[in-house]
Amino acid sequence: MRQENKTLMILATAILLSGIGYSAYQNSLLTDEIVSIKKEFADKKIELESLISDLQKDLETTKIERDGWEERYNTEVSKIAFLAAQVESIKGTVGILEKIKQTDTELLKKYSKVYFLNENYVPSGLVAIDAQYIFNPKKKLQMHSGVSEHLKNLLDASRTEGINLSIISAFRSFYEQAGVKSAYSVTYGAGSSNQFSADQGYSEHQLGTTVDFTSINGEQFAGFDKLPAYEWLKNNAYKYGFILSYPKGNSYYIYEPWHWRFVGKQLASDLYAQGKNFYDMDQREIDTYIQYFFDK
Ligand code: DAL
Ligand code: ZN
Repeated sequence: MRQENKTLMILATAILLSGIGYSAYQNSLLTDEIVSIKKEFADKKIELESLISDLQKDLETTKIERDGWEERYNTEVSKIAFLAAQVESIKGTVGILEKIKQTDTELLKKYSKVYFLNENYVPSGLVAIDAQYIFNPKKKLQMHSGVSEHLKNLLDASRTEGINLSIISAFRSFYEQAGVKSAYSVTYGAGSSNQFSADQGYSEHQLGTTVDFTSINGEQFAGFDKLPAYEWLKNNAYKYGFILSYPKGNSYYIYEPWHWRFVGKQLASDLYAQGKNFYDMDQREIDTYIQYFFDK
């Protein structure tokens, strides 16, 4: 080999070797950088994962807190609703108690030979009955002020339907009843008069809520139940709060188709619907109706 060729070969080999060396050097630099980037990436990933995990925990805590608040809020809302319902119910009860307190409980007692009204008992308010409804207009008759409108409604309705009805007796004081009873006792004897006339203190007439009806023509007492007026009362009086105190076969007095007592629309309607008589109902059950007594 010629000297120049040798030199060229050596030179070429040297260049090749240094190229390989440089490339290896370059490669090792790249590898280092990749490793460092990978590490940095791994570190970032860990850091981000931890951040995400923290955020997730925070979110969970917030959700739990929110749920807790929602639950507490709902509990408070239902508590308030419950209290409001209680307040309403108490208000209702107070209203009923107030009504009961203001209503004379004597008005629904069974007076026939059971309860007694003393000589001082007078209804809380008495008003004169309009003369047009009285059989003998010269006679002054009185009625409980809370009942007179119901009686007027009954009489107006009956007259509108062509029924011939007027009143022959209404409120009677303790002493008037005593007079009526003793007059009957003289005429009919004590035994007989007990069949149709109450002793003083035992008459529903002393309550001011009770009336004796007659026809405008004057048919009264015996025979009254043969009149259309009686038929009308039997079918309609309950709508105005009146009941027949002494029906056929009652255990207190003779059958008194003319004698009607106001007991309030609610009780009268319930008795009518159940086909029951006032005196057959238990007094405790009757007493529950006092709150409705004056209802229009
Ligand atoms: N006629 C009835 C019984 C009364 O006197 O009350
Ligand atoms: Zn009577």
